[in-house]
Amino acid sequence: MKKKADETTGQVSRRDFIKTSAAASLAAMGAGTNRIFAAGSGKIRIALIGCGGRGNGALKNCTEAGKHIGREIEVVAVADWFKSKAEKTGESHGVPKRRCFSGADAYEKLLRTNADVVLMATSPNFRPVHFEAAIKAGKNVFMEKPVAVDPPGARRVIKAGELAKRKGLAVVAGTQRRHQAKYLQTKYAVERGAIGKIRGGCIWWCGRIPWIHRRKPEYTDADYLVDNWLNFVEMSGDHIVEQHLHNLDVANWFIGHPPIRAIGFGGRARRETGNQYDLFSIQYDYADDLHIHSMCRQVSNCWNRVAEHFVGSRGSTFGDGSSMESRKNVDVPDFPEHGGPYVQEHIDLLNSILEGKPLNETRNVAESTMTAIMGRISAYTGQAIRWSDVAENEKSQWYNFTLKPTAEDFETGNAVAPPDDVIPIPGSPYKPRR
Ligand SMILES: NC(=O)c1ccc[n+]([C@@H]2O[C@H](COP(=O)([O-])OP(=O)(O)OC[C@H]3O[C@@H](n4cnc5c(N)ncnc54)[C@H](O)[C@@H]3O)[C@@H](O)[C@H]2O)c1
Repeated sequence: MKKKADETTGQVSRRDFIKTSAAASLAAMGAGTNRIFAAGSGKIRIALIGCGGRGNGALKNCTEAGKHIGREIEVVAVADWFKSKAEKTGESHGVPKRRCFSGADAYEKLLRTNADVVLMATSPNFRPVHFEAAIKAGKNVFMEKPVAVDPPGARRVIKAGELAKRKGLAVVAGTQRRHQAKYLQTKYAVERGAIGKIRGGCIWWCGRIPWIHRRKPEYTDADYLVDNWLNFVEMSGDHIVEQHLHNLDVANWFIGHPPIRAIGFGGRARRETGNQYDLFSIQYDYADDLHIHSMCRQVSNCWNRVAEHFVGSRGSTFGDGSSMESRKNVDVPDFPEHGGPYVQEHIDLLNSILEGKPLNETRNVAESTMTAIMGRISAYTGQAIRWSDVAENEKSQWYNFTLKPTAEDFETGNAVAPPDDVIPIPGSPYKPRR
């Protein structure tokens, strides 16, 4: 793949543009109801819901993005389920204690502050409720993936994303490969025929279980689920949704649409808490004779790979462009990536607001979340699951399939923890033949 400098990325003109704060403010004011940064100081006010590992990381990334575009970032509020976590993050960013909110309704209090941009990094089961409320409150959003754990949740996010569009609000998702230069270059080349038409491929997230948190004596059921969310399907969607989503997102992005059907299986043998599977193997049917094999596993000391590989009619490539075999030379421009994709996604978010051309990545991330949910349902049940079952056909048993406890159950104090180590068994019970 040959690279050359290209001005079609518009980097230079964009940077020049945003340095002119008056012009930027005017542009922002022109963007429907989005009046971000129009007020005097030029500071960009941000707030965070979910003060864990990624949330604290996202605050740093957004602050770094602010430096890059020449804008001061002020953290005006933080929210977490646990008071100690909200206050710890608040303290490190100079947020007064009165704006360090905690508990199930912390997000609502945070949304009443004057934050221009709200970052969301709780477990994904809360995202549909928090995202919808943020858009209704007129906030621009950076939201971590995945954005739901069940089909109604994913559809609710899509609907709120449409409202964001009408309100002129920007939404960027934590599917950072879409802001990573190597992926953008590969996508650019593939779109222009570098490997011909994509005919098939494999995607992987094979690694270890990231972590488990055991129940503490003082925990309520809700506390335990919030703390050990990564191991309960009701909170995370299972690791095909929580982690492998990144690779499924690349497949949907490169192919141009979500699959029409998922058929797969999975199992659990090693996990010590929660109710997730250890592994999934899913065949995704993208129609037109195109199948993608998806494989994800969280078991230590096995062969590992995190990648996407596509085979086309005239060549093949990994999603990041490595090992590309191409029979067509495509001139590929440089794409900006300052501070890595985790910073670049915030630069892209803020620039889009300043330019009055708000990015809206809601549908992409929600469809990738739905793709992963389809695969999980297929593995859990042993059935073939169609896109129409989860996205379109109200009569399908999966259309309104909702995992419980719901986000609302946490707010009403009705969150009951499912038992550890009880999992779905696909198919009908085994009946020995005589
Ligand atoms: N894009 C990426 O590469 C990437 C990497 C890691 C994590 N993530 C995503 O980021 C999200 C958070 O992951 P993490 O690793 O930071 O988890 P974490 O457990 O470290 O943090 C989650 C935080 O959210 C808080 N929280 C949970 N429910 C809440 C609620 N209702 N209101 C307020 N606070 C609440 C928890 O107390 C915790 O502090 C997940 O969706 C995860 O998939 C994305």
